[in-house]
This record gives sequence, C-alpha cells and structure tokens, in this order.
Amino acid sequence: MYVLVAGGAGYIGSHISKMLTKRGYSVIVLDNLSHGYKEAVKYGEFIEGDISDKVLVDSIFKKYSISAVMHFCAFIEVGESVVDPEKYYINNVSNTITLIEMMRKNNVNNFIFSSTAATYGNPVKIPIEEDDLKQPINPYGMSKLMIENVLDDYDKAYGFKSIRFRYFNASGADPECEIGERHQPETHLIPLILQAASGSRDSIKIYGTDYPTDDKTAVRDYVHVNDLADAHIRGLEYLLKTGTTNYFNLGSGTGYSVKEVIDMVKKCTGKEFKVIETERRAGDPPFLVAQSEKAKEILGWGVTYSLEDIVKTAWNWHLSQSK
Ligand SMILES: NC(=O)c1ccc[n+]([C@@H]2O[C@H](COP(=O)([O-])OP(=O)(O)OC[C@H]3O[C@@H](n4cnc5c(N)ncnc54)[C@H](O)[C@@H]3O)[C@@H](O)[C@H]2O)c1
Repeated sequence: MYVLVAGGAGYIGSHISKMLTKRGYSVIVLDNLSHGYKEAVKYGEFIEGDISDKVLVDSIFKKYSISAVMHFCAFIEVGESVVDPEKYYINNVSNTITLIEMMRKNNVNNFIFSSTAATYGNPVKIPIEEDDLKQPINPYGMSKLMIENVLDDYDKAYGFKSIRFRYFNASGADPECEIGERHQPETHLIPLILQAASGSRDSIKIYGTDYPTDDKTAVRDYVHVNDLADAHIRGLEYLLKTGTTNYFNLGSGTGYSVKEVIDMVKKCTGKEFKVIETERRAGDPPFLVAQSEKAKEILGWGVTYSLEDIVKTAWNWHLSQSK
C-alpha cells in the first residue's frame, strides 16, 4: 500500500518513512528540501517538489495508487511566525489546502496531519486534554488550528477523513543512528544542549528562572520521534479500518524542566558545559504537558522511550554528525 509522506525529508517525516517501510508500506516522499535533506530520505522513493505545485502533485496521485497522505510540510519556527506571519499562513495553511484539493480531485480521502501543542496557547489546565480551549498565541499555532478547523468542515461537507496529531516536544533520534534531528536554524532544546555538550556552542541559555515550577524553569513534555512514528501508523490503520476522523495529543504525560533536561544531558554525555540563566521569552507558558489517554484508549498507543533514551539516541546521532 502506498503512503505519500509530504515533508518526508524533514526530521519527523524521515523517521516515519523508515517505520512505514519496515512495517511493509510503500513510501513516496515529496519534499521541496527548503528545510529537509535529501540524504534523510533513506526509505521510499523521493520526489523533489512543492506541495503547492498542483501539476506535480496531481501527477503523483495519477502515477501511484496512494491510499493515504501523511503531511509534515510546514514552517515551524514560532518566533519567525510572529515577525513574518504571511510566510506561515501561505505554507502551512494555503499550501496545505492545495495538497488536500489535489487529494480530493484524485479521490484520496485519508489524511494524517501534524498538528501541535501550540494550538492550545496558554493551557487552561495541566495535563492538557484534547477538548481543552484552543487559543494559539502565535501565527504558527494558529496556522495549525486553522487546518484542524478546515479538516472538520471538509469531513462534514465532503466526507474527507483525517487524523490530527498534536505533538508535544518531538525529540530523540533513530536508535540505529541512520537519521536524526537536523533543523536549520536549530531552536529545539535538546539538540541545543547537545551542541553545548559537544563544544560546538559556547553555552546553553535557560530562558526564565522565575516560573511557578519546582525548580523555577519551564516544564515540557518530550516524546521520542519513534513513538510519534508508531502513533502515525496506528492512526493510519485506525483511519483505514474505521473511516473516522479523529484527533489526539501525543505526549508522554510527564513533564521535565529545562534544568532537569540539562542534568540528563550531563549524565548521559559525561560532559560539563556553561549554563546561562536569562530572562523569560515572551509567550513561553510555564507548563506544557499532555494528557494522552485518548491515544492510549483508541489507538492502543503509549510511549516506550524515556527521557534518558531520548537524550542518548539524540547524542549518538549528534556524535555521528560531527565525525
Ligand atoms: N519538531 C517538533 O517538535 C514538532 C512539534 C509539533 C508539531 N510539529 C510539526 O511536525 C511537522 C514536521 O516537523 P519537523 O520537526 O519534522 O520539521 P522539518 O522542518 O524537519 O520538516 C518539514 C519538512 O517539510 C518540507 N517542506 C516544508 N514546506 C514544504 C512545501 N511547501 N512543499 C514541500 N515540502 C515542504 C521541508 O523541506 C522539511 O523537510 C511540522 O508540520 C511541524 O509543524 C513538529
């Protein structure tokens, strides 16, 4: 069975392509390489191009008998989305709608969408449940929520079926070290700390040491990229079996503070490095922790990687890249 992985040259899409292939699916990767890497496409057939290219996307659906699309393409930098929202609304919203338009034209009605914890904004309670209030506080989160709303409307009007996964902090790398996290610029905490541990960065900054948390630094929910991959395949199988639109949080349910993550990196790498405490960044909530019971009950999903596993796999990948 063919699955089109849009954005499969990126961090999460490349790990999911690997797991899909290992579980017997045929993968077609479509990626414009704006933030992805051709060498990350180790599994599946690679087509370089943009999801907004209607002629290309139409030709892919005509050539392959694609059963479902997993959609990872997006711009993902929250700060940039605040200063240049147009870039985010065009790629994350308009281009996504074009991709769906081409799917519908070719009667491909199964769509798996990468949404985010950023749709909740400042959460009304912790842990966050799927039906909690969603009030994004930046255009990135808003762009994802807009597509979630589009998907609800398309299901009602056209019977277009989707699964939306709201990831918390995706992290870690392929345990076989073939692929890993490589964002440019890097804004995610664990790879930044690993850069400090390996000496490719002078220090790591902690933004905010006055949060109402145990050690006063912000708490996040880290989920291994292979656990995300497993959820996507469970979601795909659920969608194909039930033909039901649904949405799920994907997190571990356990929060770790910035200081705890730094300590874990020190423990796993045996390295000491400079830590600088600085002011909070605007719009960073104190706690973001998922309630993922719904994914457990409906998809039978749960996390299998601990924070230590996440850091160790990410460190192995980091070391392999600096050789
Ligand atoms: N990384 C996280 O912690 C996290 C958390 C929540 C949600 N997400 C979502 O998961 C998805 C994947 O994130 P990631 O970390 O793998 O990002 P990434 O930047 O590594 O991957 C995105 C890929 O999409 C490609 N792309 C972007 N726009 C495209 C277009 N118009 N046409 C074709 N290809 C295009 C990029 O080249 C890149 O390879 C994104 O939608 C993101 O919003 C990520």
